Amino acid sequence: MTGQEDQWWRHAVIYQVYLRSFCDGNGDGHGDIAGLRARLDHVESLGVDAIWVNPWYESPLNDGGYDVADYRSIHPLFGDLGEATALIEESRRRGIRVIADLVPNHTSSEHAWFQAALASPEGSVERSRYHFRPGRGVDGERPPNDWQSVFGGPAWSRVADGDWYLHLYDVTQPDLNWSNQEVREEFLSILEYWLDLGVSGFRVDVAHGKGKHPDYPDVGGVADHLDPAWASGGHPTWDRPEVHEIVREWRGVVDGYPGAILVAEAWVASWDRLARYLRPGEYHQAFDFLFLQSPWDAESMRSRIDEAVEATMSVGATPTWALSNHDVVRHLTRYALPGDVDAGEWLLGGDRGLLDLRRGRRRARAAVLLTMGLPGSVYIYQGEELGLPEVHDLPPQDLEDPVWRRSGHTRKGRDGCRVPIPWTREGSSYGFGTGRSWLPQPPEWGRLSVEAQNTEEHSMLHLYRSAIDLRRRLLGADLTFAWLQTEADALSYRHGEIVSIVNFGSRPLDLPDGEVLLMSAPLEGGRLPVDGAAWIHAPGHVSQVE
Ligand code: GLC
Repeated sequence: MTGQEDQWWRHAVIYQVYLRSFCDGNGDGHGDIAGLRARLDHVESLGVDAIWVNPWYESPLNDGGYDVADYRSIHPLFGDLGEATALIEESRRRGIRVIADLVPNHTSSEHAWFQAALASPEGSVERSRYHFRPGRGVDGERPPNDWQSVFGGPAWSRVADGDWYLHLYDVTQPDLNWSNQEVREEFLSILEYWLDLGVSGFRVDVAHGKGKHPDYPDVGGVADHLDPAWASGGHPTWDRPEVHEIVREWRGVVDGYPGAILVAEAWVASWDRLARYLRPGEYHQAFDFLFLQSPWDAESMRSRIDEAVEATMSVGATPTWALSNHDVVRHLTRYALPGDVDAGEWLLGGDRGLLDLRRGRRRARAAVLLTMGLPGSVYIYQGEELGLPEVHDLPPQDLEDPVWRRSGHTRKGRDGCRVPIPWTREGSSYGFGTGRSWLPQPPEWGRLSVEAQNTEEHSMLHLYRSAIDLRRRLLGADLTFAWLQTEADALSYRHGEIVSIVNFGSRPLDLPDGEVLLMSAPLEGGRLPVDGAAWIHAPGHVSQVE
C-alpha cells in the first residue's frame, strides 16, 4: 500500500450502517451481517470508501449494542465471526473498508468482568476494574456523589453488599476504571484482535469519556459538561486529560496497520477542545457535532464550517461533515421544522402542523451539495441517501431506547432515526426482511425505497450517487478551499474545480457563470430557487475570492 492510500480517510466518504436496521438476512425481523453482505451492491453503487458498522458484539442490547458483553464475539442476532470476516473480505474486494465501533467507556453489566466484580467483595481486584465506591450518609444509603447519568437519573446504583458502582449511561452500562492497568491492556489486545481480522480502524464511542477525577468530586449546579462553565476542561468525568494519554497508547497498536484509523465521537464544548483530540499521535478524525447541530442558516453554517476547517487544519487533520447519525433526529426532519423549534422537544408532542416535510426535503437535498463539496470527509447515515425522515409517531410500546425509560418519558429517545430501511416498493417490511421488522415502518416508505428511487432520475439516491462521483473525480485529495462573494443569505465556495452555491434566503438567486454540474432542484426562471443548491464547474475560476 502506498503512503497516499494510507491517507485515504483525509477525503473519504464513509457510510454508517446501523446493522439492526439495515437488512434482515434471516427473516427474524432484525438486520444482520448476512443482510448487509446481500446489499453491498447498494453500498458500492453509492461510491463510498468505507462503511462504519455500529456495535455488533455480544450484548443484551439494552442500549442498541453499546452495552458490550464480549468484545471479541459477534451477537448471534447479527451473525458470527465467519460472517464478519466474509463481510470484510467481500467489501475489500469492492474497494470498501470496514470500520468497527469500539466501546471503551463502559461494558455491559453482563460482561464477565462485571459479573466477577459482583461476585467479589468490596475492595477486590475484580471491583477495581470498575468504579465501586461506598455511599454517603450513616449507612451509605446515598450515592457517593451528585453525578447524573446521561440518560437521566443518578449515575450510581447500589449492589447487594451496599457498595455503589458508576454508570454514566444506563444501569446496565458500568463505567470501566481506566486508571486500572489491566483495563488498558485489555483494550490494546481488543484493538489488535479486530485489526488482525481486517478492519480498517474504529469509530471510538464516547471518546471524551473514560477519565474520572480520582477524588470523585460533586459537580454542583452545573452538571452539563458542555456548559461554558466547563469550557476549559476540569469536569470530573468528561473531556479529561487522561483521554489523550490513552489514545496515544492506542496509536502504538493502530499505526502497525497501514491505513487504519481512529475516529472520535467526542461531545465537547468547542472546537478548541475538539482540536486537542486531533493532534499528531491522537485521533485521525473526529465528528463535528457543532456543524451537525447548526440551524439551516447561512451565517451559522458558514461560521461553523470556518471553525472546523481552521481548527482541523491547524493540527494537520481534515474536517468531517455529518448531518445525521443513530443518536440524533434525522436532519430532513430537523430542517422541516421552524428554526426556533428544538427537534428533540418537538418529538415529545410538539405541534405536528409545524412540520413541513417538503421544505425539509428541499433543504436536505441542498445539504448534499453543501457538504459533499467541502474539503475533508463526509459521513452518511444509512437512509439519508433515501431522504428518510425521523419516524416521530412510533407507538410508545415499541420504543426501546433507554433514554425514554430512564428520563421518565420526558425524552423520546432515538428509535425514530433507527427504523429499518425500505428496499422495495411493496412486500413485508419493504424488502428489509421477510416478516415484520423490529420497529414498524411508516406505510409511505415503499415510495422511498431503494427500488423506487433507482428508477427515478431526480431521486435523492441519484443526487447522492452523482455528488459522490463528481467529488471523487473533480476533488480527489485537493484541499484548496475559499469562500466566494455572493448575496447575503447564500453561501458560495470554491473547492478545487467545483463552485458550490446554496440559497438559504427567501428569493431565487443568480447562478455564477460556468457549466452546471449538478443541482438539488430545478431552476426557477433561470435562477437558483429558495433552499436550492448547485455545483458549477469552474476550472481556473479565481475571481471574487473574499
Ligand atoms: C454514544 C453512542 C450512543 C450510546 C452512547 C453510550 O453516544 O453513539 O448510541 O448510547 O454512546 O454508549
